[in-house]
Amino acid sequence: MNGQAHLEWLRSRRSIRVFAARALERDVLERVLEGAITAPSSTNRQPWRFSVVTARDLRQRIVDAVRERTEAMKAIIRRGHHAEDFGSYGDFFFEPLETAAAIVIPQYRPYPDLIAQLIESGGGDPAAMPTASAMQAELCSTSAAIMALLLQANAEGVGSCWMAGPMVARDQIHALLGIAAPWRMVGAVALGWPEESPPARQRKQLDQVVRWHEEKP
Ligand SMILES: Cc1cc2nc3c(=O)[nH]c(=O)nc-3n(C[C@H](O)[C@H](O)[C@H](O)COP(=O)(O)O)c2cc1C
Repeated sequence: MNGQAHLEWLRSRRSIRVFAARALERDVLERVLEGAITAPSSTNRQPWRFSVVTARDLRQRIVDAVRERTEAMKAIIRRGHHAEDFGSYGDFFFEPLETAAAIVIPQYRPYPDLIAQLIESGGGDPAAMPTASAMQAELCSTSAAIMALLLQANAEGVGSCWMAGPMVARDQIHALLGIAAPWRMVGAVALGWPEESPPARQRKQLDQVVRWHEEKP
């Protein structure tokens, strides 16, 4: 695939929120996860883990937990001063999970920042000499893995939606899946065979988001 064709393919990915009632085969899921672990990571630590939930009962318990916590959150927002502006906040916190054939809960674990400790032990101030922890390198690495997962899913024809909404039920999901410190979930990814083909969402133009510092001719 040449560069232009690859770019068009990248543009073909969509967040899919409605899925067919059809299971995802294990070999497809394994390739999707193999895709995820191709990602680069800080000092190649690969600080990620993935819980892959296809069991119907457990999926339902996750959906119920997120729905319950979302409703509780919405009730609190409705009582606040911002009800008019944020009345719909909380939409799509759990809906894509309802029809997903698989729910993936990516997790990352932070590591002690050895370089920061070395700087400190030599009398330096790590705050003035930022290191990997200043960019949450393990979270960044795991986010890269999630993006690779979404792209492999797209290549498989599998729909996906990476969601922050389920964080509202983080404690419940951690308990359901046995996720314990130092591991932390990074949202949820709904996966399934697409039952919708939404149009592309608007992107900011390159000149809005890129600042060039070019060599002058
Ligand atoms: C970190 C992150 C959190 C997101 N959380 C949600 C979510 O909770 N619910 C949802 O329906 N979509 C969620 N999305 C999907 C975005 O809404 C979507 O990526 C964006 O609107 C652009 O659309 P596209 O992915 O189809 O290009 C999230 C995406 C990211 C990267």
